[in-house]
Amino acid sequence: SRSLDIAVIPGDGIGQEVVAQGLKVLTAVLPPDVKLETTPYDLGAQRWHRTGETLPDAELEALKGHDAILLGAIGDPGVPSGVLERGLLLKLRFAFDHFINLRPSKLFPNTSTPLAGTPEIDFVVVREGTEGPYTGNGGSLRTGTPAEVATEVSVNTAYGVERVVRDAFERAAARPRKKLTLVHKNNVLVYAGHLWKNVFDRVAQEYPQVTTDYLHVDAATIFFVTQPERFDVIVTDNLFGDILTDLAAAVTGGIGLAASGNINPTGAFPSMFEPVHGSAPDIAGTGKADPTATILSVALLLRHLGFDAEAARIEEAVSADLAGRDGTFRTTDEIGDALAVRVAS
Ligand code: NAD
Ligand code: IPM
Ligand code: MN
Repeated sequence: SRSLDIAVIPGDGIGQEVVAQGLKVLTAVLPPDVKLETTPYDLGAQRWHRTGETLPDAELEALKGHDAILLGAIGDPGVPSGVLERGLLLKLRFAFDHFINLRPSKLFPNTSTPLAGTPEIDFVVVREGTEGPYTGNGGSLRTGTPAEVATEVSVNTAYGVERVVRDAFERAAARPRKKLTLVHKNNVLVYAGHLWKNVFDRVAQEYPQVTTDYLHVDAATIFFVTQPERFDVIVTDNLFGDILTDLAAAVTGGIGLAASGNINPTGAFPSMFEPVHGSAPDIAGTGKADPTATILSVALLLRHLGFDAEAARIEEAVSADLAGRDGTFRTTDEIGDALAVRVAS
């Protein structure tokens, strides 16, 4: 019989609220023959305040033993910026070599968008997850003085770029439109840009069925708003992908709907699924957080582990729920309950 062993990191702020709904829907969607085990990990701001720890080795080790990780969000106004982001979230992405940060964007029917008309939006951003300016390769000289100099070096390796570019070509080849857009800034970031473009053009020769395109990241933000239908699969650097996927969320119904997966396709380590959004301290505790992004992340988790039918049921439930939204306010819990009912029936 099938089983599912999930590590859960609710984290901070609305992270805890939305993860509770994700687990509710996960429990409801699984057929009775699937044995579900969930293990909560107490990591985040409260733990840091109590013990000074972000991600102790023992917990990092223990996390390796699960099939996948579901994370809410981390980050808290009472913790210096970067402590939890780097010491917990990025540490997990790096330690488990989550080199694919998969961020699908789809405009569901009857979902409000700030864009004009009714654009067709259905693309996926394949964001590099382990390199770029995220590696912590920087420093500061004469800190705090008028002569301070800060550097934050973007690291791009042929190995790291090629593996994410290959993954993106595979994903593009498997989709009906078979189009892949590289987004970078090779008119200014000439060294990294050159590496990305060269690897992209070389790998492209193995995928003649895939139509390719290149955009500078600034121009890409224009087309996200004016012509989002031109995108199918996008492959890009870690930081560009971070920024573009918040924009993508904003034009496809809002940040409360945007799901993501931090994937290690080799299976050497568990992959980690989380909403694109953060801990939203401005609405934590109010019941205003939309748990849909987390619930769609549960669908990505299920598909990653081969539970395709259950993943599809969640996505259909979300689609139906969104189609029925009429602007009436529902709490985090109410949305979770409604989706749990839909996936169970
Ligand atoms: P944020 O995503 O937390 O919030 C941005 C805006 O979106 C806020 O107005 C918030 O209320 C709104 N929002 C976010 N999620 C929502 C939801 N589910 N439903 C409705 N509205 C929602 O970004 P921020 O304010 O820049 O960051 C807050 C903290 O979260 C920071 O500490 C940051 O480092 C952290 N962060 C963590 C993650 C993560 O854990 N993966 C991601 C992004 C930011
Ligand atoms: C995200 C977040 C993280 C990132 C931060 C919190 C480290 O913004 O998951 O999009 O920049 O990757
Ligand atoms: Mn982000």
